Order: sequence, then C-alpha cells, then structure tokens
Amino acid sequence: MSSLERVAELRRLIDYHNRKYYVDAAPEISDREFDFLVKELQQIEAAHPEWITPDSPTQRVGGQPIEGFQTVRHRVPMLSIENAYSAQELREWDRSLRKLLGPEPIDYVVELKIDGVAITLIYEHGRLTVGATRGDGERGDDVTHNLRTIPSVPLKLNTDQPPPLFEVRGEVYMTRAELVRINRLRQALGEKTYENPRNLTAGTLKLLDPRQCAERKLVLFAYGVGAVEGIRLTHHLELLQLLRQYGFPVNPHIHPCPDIEAVIAYCESWNERRHELPYDTDGMVIKVNDFRQRERLGSTSKFPRWARAFKFAAEQALTKLARIEVQVGRTGKLTPVAYFDPPVRLAGTTVSKASLHNADYIAQKDLRVGDMVVVEKAGEIIPQVVRSEPSARTGKEVIYEFPKTCPMCAAPTAREPGSPFYFCTAPRNECGGQVKRRILQFARRDAMDIENLGKALVEQLVESGLVTNLPDLYRLTLEQLLTLERMGKKSAQNLLDGIAASKDRGLARLLAGLSIPLVADSMADLLAQEFGHIDALMNADVERLAQVEGVGPERARHIWEYFHEPSHRDMIEQFRSLGLKLSEQKKVAPPGLSGSALAGKTIVVTGTMTQFDRKGIEDLIKQLGGKPTGSVSKKTDFVLAGENAGSKLDKARELGVSVLTEEEFQRLIAGPLPASE
Ligand code: IVH
Repeated sequence: MSSLERVAELRRLIDYHNRKYYVDAAPEISDREFDFLVKELQQIEAAHPEWITPDSPTQRVGGQPIEGFQTVRHRVPMLSIENAYSAQELREWDRSLRKLLGPEPIDYVVELKIDGVAITLIYEHGRLTVGATRGDGERGDDVTHNLRTIPSVPLKLNTDQPPPLFEVRGEVYMTRAELVRINRLRQALGEKTYENPRNLTAGTLKLLDPRQCAERKLVLFAYGVGAVEGIRLTHHLELLQLLRQYGFPVNPHIHPCPDIEAVIAYCESWNERRHELPYDTDGMVIKVNDFRQRERLGSTSKFPRWARAFKFAAEQALTKLARIEVQVGRTGKLTPVAYFDPPVRLAGTTVSKASLHNADYIAQKDLRVGDMVVVEKAGEIIPQVVRSEPSARTGKEVIYEFPKTCPMCAAPTAREPGSPFYFCTAPRNECGGQVKRRILQFARRDAMDIENLGKALVEQLVESGLVTNLPDLYRLTLEQLLTLERMGKKSAQNLLDGIAASKDRGLARLLAGLSIPLVADSMADLLAQEFGHIDALMNADVERLAQVEGVGPERARHIWEYFHEPSHRDMIEQFRSLGLKLSEQKKVAPPGLSGSALAGKTIVVTGTMTQFDRKGIEDLIKQLGGKPTGSVSKKTDFVLAGENAGSKLDKARELGVSVLTEEEFQRLIAGPLPASE
C-alpha cells in the first residue's frame, strides 16, 4: 500500500471509529489504539503537507485564533419552541392541531430538551463549510473554528453521494462532570468559575482561539435540519435515521407516540429520571412526525405550530419548617437557617435545610415555625423556601423572633442600620462561633491548608479554650493537645506537623485565610502579587489600594480598615514573631498555564485518582505544559501515585524519582508559580 493510500485508509478508519464512539456509543477499539491511528496519520501528513485536506481528522484544530465573529444569516430561521408547563396545556395544543388538520391521526415524536447551545452546521457537497450559533434566530455568529474542534461534529458526511446542501440543527452541550473538571482547574488558577454547563458551553463557543475550545469536552446532539437541497424527507423519524447514518450523534431517548396521552406519560416518566443523565435537560420537546402535516400547520412569527417544549416545573416539595437556627459567620453576621422535617427529595438530592437569609425575608414571607412550607431548588442547585401554606395552619405555629443574643457566645445581637442583617456584637475574638468559622476559613485547603484540622477538632480547640485566635494555633503544644478527648499522640503530632507546615504558605494563602471583607482567594492572590509583602500592603493608603486593578474604592476601604484595626495589626505581629512567611514571590509572566510548576516536566501517572480519571489527569498535565509518559526511567521528573499504585511506584522508589500524592499534586498546580530569576 502506498503512503497516499494509507492516508485515505487512516482517515476512513478514524472517521469510522469516531462514529462508533460518538454516534453508536459502541467503541470497537481503545482510546490508545485510536490515538495511534491519529498519530500515524499526523506523521505521514507531516512528511507530505501537500496531502493535507481541511476535512482530514488531524485538521480539527485549525491555525490561528480568529479576530472576531462574522455574522451568518440563517437561510431557514432558527425558531424557538413555545412552552407548555402542564399536561393540560399539552392536551390543549393537541386539540388545536386537530382543529387545523381535521380527523386524521397525528403521530408525535418526543425527545429530551438538551440544555446546551443551539447551533447549525452547513454541509456543502458533504463537507462542513459553516457552523454558527442561533443568535436572534435570523442571524448568528460564525463559530466554525470552534465547532470543527468538537470530535462528534462530522467534518464530512458519511456518504458517497452527499446532497449539494445539508444544514443540520442541533445542540452543543457539556456534561456536568466536564464542568466540574474545568471549574476545578479554573479555581486552581484563581479564575472565575462557571455556574452551569450551558453557560460554560456558550462561553466556550465564543472563544476566539479554537485551541482553547478543543481543550474542553463539548459534545453534539443533532435533532433537525435547516436548508436542504437534493433530498426529500417525509418524517422526523426518517430524518433522525438519516442523521445517524451521516455520522451525527442523535440522542438515544427518542420516543414515537400515537397520541397526546402517550406523550404526557412519556414526559412524566422523565421528570425524576432526568437527573440520572450525565448532562442537563430542561424539559422535553414534542414534535409532529409527519412533515406534510408540519407544512400545513406552519408557524407563527416566533414558533412553529408543530412543536411544543414541555418544561419540567421547578421541582417543589411541601414539608414542615420544624425549626430555625441561627448560624454565626466569620465576620459575626447571623444567618437564619430553616430545618425541614421530613427532609425532601429535590432534583436528585435530599434537602434538609435552606438559608432564610435574614430577618426581613422571614417577615416578608410570613414564615412561622411549625408552618408547612413549599421548598424548591433555585437553578436546580440551591434550595430555598418559596412560601408558607397558611391554609395548613393549626394555630400552634410560632412567629419567629430573631434572637437577642448570639447563639454561640450570648453577646447581644444588633442590626446594622439600614441593613437587613443582624450581627453578634462581641469583639471578634470573644465569640466562639466567629472564632471557629475563622479558623476553618484559615485552615481550609485553598488558604493555609492545615492538614487534619477539621470541623470537629476546631470545635474542641475553641471550646476547651486552647485557641481563641488564629496565632494561638501556632502555640499549641503536644501536652495541650493530649488533654483533648479522643486525641492520641499520633494524631496530635500530625496536627502539629500540619500547622508547622502551613507557616511557609506565603502571603497570598495567608490573606485568603484572614476573612478580610470582600477579599476572596483570587483577590488575595492579586494583592499578594501587587504588594509582595504584608508590610507594603498594611501601609498602603486607600488611594493606593484602589489603584490596583480589580480592587475599586469600596474594597480598598474595607482592606484599609481591616489592617488599621489594632487587633488585626497585633495579630500580624504575632504571625511575624511566630515565623510565618509574610511575603510572596512574583509569578513569571505571562500569567496562565505556561509558567506552571509542570512546564517541561515528564510525569508518570499510576494508580487510581479520586478526583480525576486517567485521561482527565493526563489532559490536565498537558494543559499545564507537562509531558505525561507511560514508563518510569531516570529521566522521569516525578511519579504521581494514586491509590493501589503498583510496580511503577516501586520502580520510582528504586530509581529515586520523586513521588507525589494526588493531594500534593493538586497543591503543586494550585501553588505559586516559580520566580522569574
Ligand atoms: S427542535 C423549531 N429539539 O430548545 C424547533 N430543540 O426553544 C427547533 N433544544 O433553541 C428546535 N433539545 O436549542 C429541538 N431535541 C430538541 C432540543 C431542542 C434542545 C433547544 C434548542 C432550541 C430550544 C427551543
């Protein structure tokens, strides 16, 4: 076989296995074998660049970032679908269609409504030429450069006789697991995280650099067509079949229904089950199967008459508001929390409590202890009390009065003028509740990362009086710790070691741990970079602070006030004499991935990780500039060993190669970047 023939064969094989993986969900070869095929093709193409074609599977990530987006006018508008919120509304819709169509039967097809981003893909003579977003329905943005990088988007149709024009409509989405992976990475780099997979998908498609898009796992489901020439289709089910044949992934949960009652039953069957899917859905889409019927039904200016979206109601549950407890925050803010009896199932989790925010919220909603209340999840994540059910009152319900004293330290509570919030009025170090919260904030992994200092131990330390402020942690002795209940010598020593190790974390982590108002982790990092040492930060005036990019006047005032409170200055002096590191090295430019601790390092991953799968961690290492390799040698920079690591770990030890645990690895990638000199 000549090289040119091998190129054709490799492309065919790669496309075939890509379809097996994405369209049929039935891969025939391993990821590794697949990568070998791609590598071989890359090698031949590198030797014969003149053979490269734009639809070669090696050409998904094209050249340079684009400068901006071109507008694409949709030949067939991308309409949205009218919503129905109940079975009743679906029956009414069915009735209205019968009126228009007469006595003939109507077949429906029900699909999941994928909560992603609608896109359109144009294939001319079988080749992908343009991919665009929906935009306003008439015009969208050309995002071909990014859509090409999505492995499940075919670069050419899987047919020898492609129609001259074939426009596919579908949804690009991301799994929840991928959102978590990317957010974790962004958090480690001090960047803002995304709220849900849909927002992250939309943000990703709008990136100018396709290489960045390629690093995030986006996926496609195709569900319709736009402009088509050269093919006649008569039914939606037939279209879905053709889409699959052409190589598009079509969601497997497609259900033909002979009447509206079957539609309703199928929709309802997904109400709970949908949370088991690895991606988000926000309802079901019901479509008339027959295209001639669709044509006769037509559209209004906004919606086709032949489709409805059945939206799942924000899930609600009725339960008893059994009690309200007040939580003390680290700044002394008091937050009332409702506890439910019994706990309720909502959007896949059990909910036993919800924040009531403040006293005004409780008063406005007239929530009484003992009330039956309606609970729902805002944005499917955060539980909240929607309202009480006054008709269920028995007279035994109790109007809630905000406690006059702090539940943790019994100091009087007070309302800040003009604010709905109550605070504990005790000096910061005298309220055990505040102290506990501040220690937890200080010790958490992204701040001083004090190993073994968990919630239960913090309670013990504060309640025994051994720790009343943060510097006290560094004065703890073995003898003192041994006086605590259930504290053995070994755990006491581990704790002391953990505390001692935290002294060197540096300024950014220290600031992140201090509970300075309006200073979250990324801001702590920014301040540490800007000022380099705590003295420079403490001595900066408000104007200087406000000049720092991203700080602004209000935050500047809070920071200044924090460092001008005598007890805080005193605390910093104690930290100094206890030997804590109060400075931060400058990161090398450019900020971002290239200067990371992994740059240029050869890393072998072995064993099972808890936070990543194998591919995920290898991708992360690559993104951070490292080289994941398979076997351990003297040249290996380090071995990342998860649970049940075997012979590779032994080999590393034998050769004296450094070994990192998963936790150490996470800290390494989250930690400060190397100095510039
Ligand atoms: S059909 C004219 N099918 O829902 C109807 N849409 O408001 C064309 N969507 O913008 C859309 N899953 O982004 C259709 N199985 C599915 C869908 C789906 C999600 C989205 C799509 C559209 C919106 C409708």
